[in-house]
Parts: sequence; C-alpha cells; structure tokens
Amino acid sequence: MTVSISPSILAADFSRLAEEAALIADDADLLHVDVMDNNFVPNLTVGLPVVESLVKNVRLPLDCHLGIADPDRWAPRFAEVGAHNVTIHAEAVKAPVRTLRAIRAAGGRAGLALNPATPVEPYEDLLAEVDTLLVMTIEPGFGGQRFLDAVLPKIERARRAIDRNRAFGREVPLWLQVDGGINAETIERCAEAGADVFVAGSAVFQGEDPAAVVRDLRARAEATRSVTGRC
Ligand code: DX5
Ligand code: ZN
Repeated sequence: MTVSISPSILAADFSRLAEEAALIADDADLLHVDVMDNNFVPNLTVGLPVVESLVKNVRLPLDCHLGIADPDRWAPRFAEVGAHNVTIHAEAVKAPVRTLRAIRAAGGRAGLALNPATPVEPYEDLLAEVDTLLVMTIEPGFGGQRFLDAVLPKIERARRAIDRNRAFGREVPLWLQVDGGINAETIERCAEAGADVFVAGSAVFQGEDPAAVVRDLRARAEATRSVTGRC
C-alpha cells in the first residue's frame, strides 16, 4: 500500500482546530486526534463532542487514537459519530475482539495500539479483527518526545506478521501506523522497517509551513519504501 500521513492535532492550536486542519487538508491523508482521559495517560485532551464537531467541519477522515482507560465503553461511539479510524490500546482494552468488532459494526476502521513495552506476538492471531496496527514509538501522553529507536525491530516484526495475515485474503488492507517523534530525521527508519501510515504532531504543526512538512515527510517515506521494494 501507499504511504499515508496523519498529522496530529495535539501540536495544533486547540482554539482553532478546524483552521489548523484546513492548512493540511490538501496534502495529508488523515487527521490524527489524540483523545486522552488523564487516566490511561497523564494528559487530558478532547472527547466525543470535539470529535463530532471535527467530523462536521474538517474535510480529512479522522484518525482517533484513544489514550483512555475504558475503550470498551467509548470506542464504538467515536465510530458512530463518524470517525474513520478508531484505535484502542491493547494495554487498556478488556475484550479486544468484542470492542474491535463493535468499532467495525459502527462503520469505523478498527485500530489496535501497542505501547513500546508491549510485544506484537500475542496479538498476531487477532490481526483478522484489526484494520490498523499502531506501534507507538514513544510512551503515549505528550507530543514533542524523542523517537525510540528501540521500537524499530518490533515494527519489522509487525510488518512480517501483517504480510502473513494478508495471505488470508482481507477485504480491507491492514495499515501499520507509527506515532511519536516522527519527523524528517526519523520517518525513513520507520518506512524502512515497514510502516505505511505516519503520525506527526510537532513536526507538522510547529513548523512555519505545515503543508510543506507533510509533503516532505511523504516524499521521504515514499522514497524509502520504493528502495525497499514495498511500494
Ligand atoms: C502522543 C500522541 C501523538 C503525538 C505525537 O501520545 O499519541 O499522536 O501527537 O506527537 P509528536 O509527533 O510531536 O511526537
Ligand atoms: Zn497519537
């Protein structure tokens, strides 16, 4: 599959979210929205009402990353209000199969996120239930953190697991997303390891020209994927 760029609004101006999203609407593929509850992660951001508003006022499909303690209860609601992708954390979810299926039943892509210390292997047999596998490249909670190179081997293992799963004939392609510390310096390493959806917050929204950063990130990831034969 081709490269997708999902800028994270965590680094944008929260008083002007729709305007910030409009800056990258022609160049990005998705808009990443970090929902945080000050429980699963030590930060509090936005919830369902803001996501519902963004669905109505932003052209890009929403990529909701739920950094919350009770995704079983809340995740399907985000798909119901129109989020395109809803990602829950493996460390928080109590009934992953039920909740992933509930997201799909509500019309969303079902995402599963793994923190840096969470291995991918226990989830390999569940990949048929998953549309987006998010490998965190920082500890979730805050933007602007340094990319963790230690996660690269897990991205490679996740890529191999996804390629094996693909052999079983999926209807929807399974994305391998990375999130945290993604910028012009680190995106190539992730693309080489096999990621195809790239979340970037501070690199995009704290620069002078967010759209130009999105184009540059895409060019770097595409160039790396064509060298590695993954395009
Ligand atoms: C952090 C969030 C990220 C965050 C990334 O918990 O999941 O999406 O916005 O920000 P940067 O790109 O600045 O690391
Ligand atoms: Zn995120």
